[in-house]
Amino acid sequence: MSKEKIIIFDTTLRDGEQAAGTRLGAREKLEIARQLARLKVDVIEAGFPASSPEDFEAVRLISQQIEGPVVCGLTRAIAEDIEICQKALAKARRFRIHTGIGVSEIHIVGKFADDKYGKTMGEKQATILKMAVDAVKHTAQYTSDIEFYAEDSGRADRGFLYEILEAVIDAGATTVNIPDTTGYSIPEQYGSLIRDIRANVPNIEKATISVHCHDDLGMAVANSLAGVKNGARQVEGTINGVGERAGNAAIEEVVMAIHTRRDFFEEVETGINTREFYRTSRMIADLLGMPVPANKAIVGRNAFAHSSGIHVDGFLKKRETYEIMRPETIGLAESRVVLTARTGRHGLRHRLEEMGYTLSKEEMEKTYERFLAVADKKKEVFDEDLAAIISDEIHLIEQTYELLYMHVACGTGTLPTASVKIKTKDETRQAAACGDGPVDAAYEAIREATGQSPKLESYSIRAVTSGKEALGEATVRISENARTFVGRGISTDIIEASARAYVDAINRMVSAQEKGGQPETKAEL
Ligand code: KIV
Ligand code: ZN
Repeated sequence: MSKEKIIIFDTTLRDGEQAAGTRLGAREKLEIARQLARLKVDVIEAGFPASSPEDFEAVRLISQQIEGPVVCGLTRAIAEDIEICQKALAKARRFRIHTGIGVSEIHIVGKFADDKYGKTMGEKQATILKMAVDAVKHTAQYTSDIEFYAEDSGRADRGFLYEILEAVIDAGATTVNIPDTTGYSIPEQYGSLIRDIRANVPNIEKATISVHCHDDLGMAVANSLAGVKNGARQVEGTINGVGERAGNAAIEEVVMAIHTRRDFFEEVETGINTREFYRTSRMIADLLGMPVPANKAIVGRNAFAHSSGIHVDGFLKKRETYEIMRPETIGLAESRVVLTARTGRHGLRHRLEEMGYTLSKEEMEKTYERFLAVADKKKEVFDEDLAAIISDEIHLIEQTYELLYMHVACGTGTLPTASVKIKTKDETRQAAACGDGPVDAAYEAIREATGQSPKLESYSIRAVTSGKEALGEATVRISENARTFVGRGISTDIIEASARAYVDAINRMVSAQEKGGQPETKAEL
């Protein structure tokens, strides 16, 4: 029996990046997009270009450089957004514009309260329908690949939902997205919503139905699969399930469910290269600074680990006793090259490419120097170390301040003191300070040297690898004028990692302020 293809639409760079406290630079997004292309997703939603100049730049860069997947940009149902979006996408081999509007009564009342949209719910719905149709028609000037999202479909009035879907398909939408924006649906309900749309929207055969589910009740993947079972032919999601609040449907889970349970999903297949899942997951976790829980399905550290006596015994006798998927299917290699100080540039580049990173010559040099410094301290450098080095060295944020030197003195019965040397564009500044502890002293000295004193909102440190020479990764969140910025730093010395993270956050803050104060939290949908 010939199978129908499920289009995999990745929104890690758009909905995924909306996850609290995460912000990627255009260069980091490009690296992720390259890896998504290797994974063979069908569509990459690269961003929401009208939301900020940085998003515009990321979408532009990805459009220019990525071959393979369709590149998509999100807009509100506003002509100006669509204009900006098409400019960002102009260089793409193939592009899609994803426009839409809130359709549930809750969204309508909340977002379109002004009488200019109408006084009654019926009048407001008529306005929204017109805005949706106008947006699709406006988009049609630039592309015939038009996706329309009916935001909060999961809680929308059915009659209005059918009506607006019919109208936007008539206007030219080729994909209709039925988001369960708030993760409110239950699989049976969401599945029947898709079935009912197919039964009640007269022109539905002219469009592909897309499912876009959030995980507030932990049902995003189950809801997406229920949608597929009921006729949806596009699934939207993110790697590792990152995204707003509890996140989006995890693409690796949706795809591996379809793949592993082909007996149940016999009518469909995806074109995904599942062997790229593991490295894609690691890359996203590292660049977003959102570690994958050990017990996470498919890509968690323990997903293929057997530990209890009975399980190990059964597994060793016959794998299938306790394993429904082979680790190789998701790219968990059994063999690996050991990286040490003697590995050399070639070996390092090879390993980085295996991990999905394509670096320029200068970036490679920077990474190699840092790699040697780490390899000198540790016998073996692990992938986690490399990923941490990459995220520390390769970023687009302008280095207004660079930490050149730091010395911290502390101990029982002494007052912790720190001195730092910071390089700016035109000078080198030094400062010394005391504090409640070594990190506090270092932060005080950095504030002194940079002249920046944002509020420290939170600070955390974790070991990226195990062993006493493990790399520590510090994450700090700072705020100024109601805007927050997250910085990360790594080192085998946790005080140095903490200082690097603080300087990184300050650089991000200064860079955003210099770009004309666009909001750190991007334009709301
Ligand atoms: O969750 C949602 O409704 C969305 C839309 C903007 C597609 O992300
Ligand atoms: Zn969403």
